[in-house]
Amino acid sequence: MIVPGDHAWSQAAREMGKELEQRTDGRYSVTLFPAGQLGSEAQMLQQMQTGALDMSFMTVAQVVNRVPDFGALFAPYLVDNEKQADQLLKGPAAQGLLEKLPVKTGTVGLGYGVAGMRMMLNAFPSDDLASLQGRKIRITPFPPVQDFYRLLGAVSTPMPLTDVYDALANGQVDGVDADLELVWKLRLYERAKTLLLSGHMMFPVVGLVSGRTWAGMSEEDRDVLRELTRKHLGELAAYYMAFGEKTRADIESEGVNVVEAGPDYFGDKLDQWEQIWIKKAPVLSELRKEAEAL
Ligand code: BEZ
Repeated sequence: MIVPGDHAWSQAAREMGKELEQRTDGRYSVTLFPAGQLGSEAQMLQQMQTGALDMSFMTVAQVVNRVPDFGALFAPYLVDNEKQADQLLKGPAAQGLLEKLPVKTGTVGLGYGVAGMRMMLNAFPSDDLASLQGRKIRITPFPPVQDFYRLLGAVSTPMPLTDVYDALANGQVDGVDADLELVWKLRLYERAKTLLLSGHMMFPVVGLVSGRTWAGMSEEDRDVLRELTRKHLGELAAYYMAFGEKTRADIESEGVNVVEAGPDYFGDKLDQWEQIWIKKAPVLSELRKEAEAL
């Protein structure tokens, strides 16, 4: 895992591991390496290809770098909240994307979960779109988000989560694209005092198993692993829905100014993003239709 040990994705992996051990009579168990102990997600994906690593709960952001179609999941305002994100990820379009993984990455995708909806935490007043012009914003580097910030006129600055706190302190970045959990658990609110509560994108995680590991598993064990991965990743949406309000209040109580923002804040930039990505990832039109029906 790239996330810290106390992140909800790590907790989900631990819970999954306990149940996996019971259900397979100890044939399988989970040893967790959080906080990027095995390297970057790109390195972990390579390790799964060679079979050096069996499994990962990985950001879909990393997968987009190999399979651009997954970029459609990051369409701004595709869904309103984590619950809708989870529902959409269980639908036919998102599930169909998983079928591309074995050929393109050498891994098998078992199911998705979510993180909190994306926001910005900024060290400058952020009352309108113009205020983002030329600002250095930390992003997770992958094309849909790079395009988003380029269109907004900001300077996107790729940076691992672990470096963000100091980078905000020394002015290397002016803001960060993140979610409420990260703002709170990494104490980023100590370094930037404006929370742009935009909820502009979902940020899914995918449970991946090395194709080599998968090939060595019985049908029965595969079914158990798939079921438990879906169960524990699927529970993340309820967690984020339940704790979002409280985390927001906790952050506000630390003297952070909350600016609420919806699609209008971004003007015609959203349309421009859509026009780029409908070509790069045509599955976007199917996802939009499914999302409208939620
Ligand atoms: C991020 O890069 O912002 C991120 C990574 C993993 C989980 C959630 C967010």
